[in-house]
Amino acid sequence: MTESLQQHETIEAFRKALDAERAAGRTVGLVPTMGYLHEGHASLMRRAAAECDVAAATIFVNPLQFAATEDLSTYPRDLEGDRRLAESCGVNHLFAPDESEMYPEGRDGVLTNVHVGGPSEGLEGASRPTHFDGVATVVAKLFNIAGPCRAYFGEKDWQQLLVVRRLVHDLSFPVEVIGCPIVREDDGLAMSSRNVYLTPEQRTASTVLHRALRAGQTSPDPEAAMAAVVAIEPLADLDYVAARDGRLLIAARFGSTRLIDNCPTTVAPSSRQEN
Ligand code: PAJ
Repeated sequence: MTESLQQHETIEAFRKALDAERAAGRTVGLVPTMGYLHEGHASLMRRAAAECDVAAATIFVNPLQFAATEDLSTYPRDLEGDRRLAESCGVNHLFAPDESEMYPEGRDGVLTNVHVGGPSEGLEGASRPTHFDGVATVVAKLFNIAGPCRAYFGEKDWQQLLVVRRLVHDLSFPVEVIGCPIVREDDGLAMSSRNVYLTPEQRTASTVLHRALRAGQTSPDPEAAMAAVVAIEPLADLDYVAARDGRLLIAARFGSTRLIDNCPTTVAPSSRQEN
């Protein structure tokens, strides 16, 4: 087994490295990310390393999934820190291409768009109309580069997880998608690379998302209960609350920072503390 972390900047090098691992009989676990890695990402990388013979992570801030008004230019980056964390989690191959490697003609030069219907509609899809096309397009590209693997995605981005599952199903990618539980700060805030944008006051206010979800779980009218909790927090500007397919989902803005969270509709006795 590969001992330490190898970093790849080109599609060809990353593809060859994973092909060689499989040729040697090893299974591959893949963790796609946009970097600025935190414990949520770490949980995915550790699981990939534990369940597969080799673990691979990708770091690419994908311009296709950001609308013109969104935070692409300010999205936090720390490749050196990411590399260290990935290595400590047992990642063997790190793919960190620059934009010209992924999109040689620029983002506007990408003429193929992968649109997954169904799960991409409504909620995040309504608030960010081109977002899931950008996600599906880059994930399809990453799956094509990585080849047969298990791919680990967080339940934090619940709708994204459903979109990726559908993408794999409809296009027959040789990929097994594995959903992983949300990792939270001690006060309940779901970990996110975007949490660094929050002012101290907004950071305090941001726990309202988790509190709203908990209120929704114990109410006969979860959407009303969640909205009522958020309404009491002046620094939170609610985008949506929803109860959909056994899940409660919420999105709100704190200043210019948009955060999302979700949980199961009902509290499972064994996960009372986690959700
Ligand atoms: P990113 O936001 O970096 O997240 C990478 C993966 O980490 C996703 O599967 C996400 O759900 C998971 N994740 C993030 N925060 C988490 C938390 N608190 N607990 C558990 N898992 C968490 O999602 C993306 O990047 C991009 O859209 C990507 C799929 C890489 C395509 O560009």
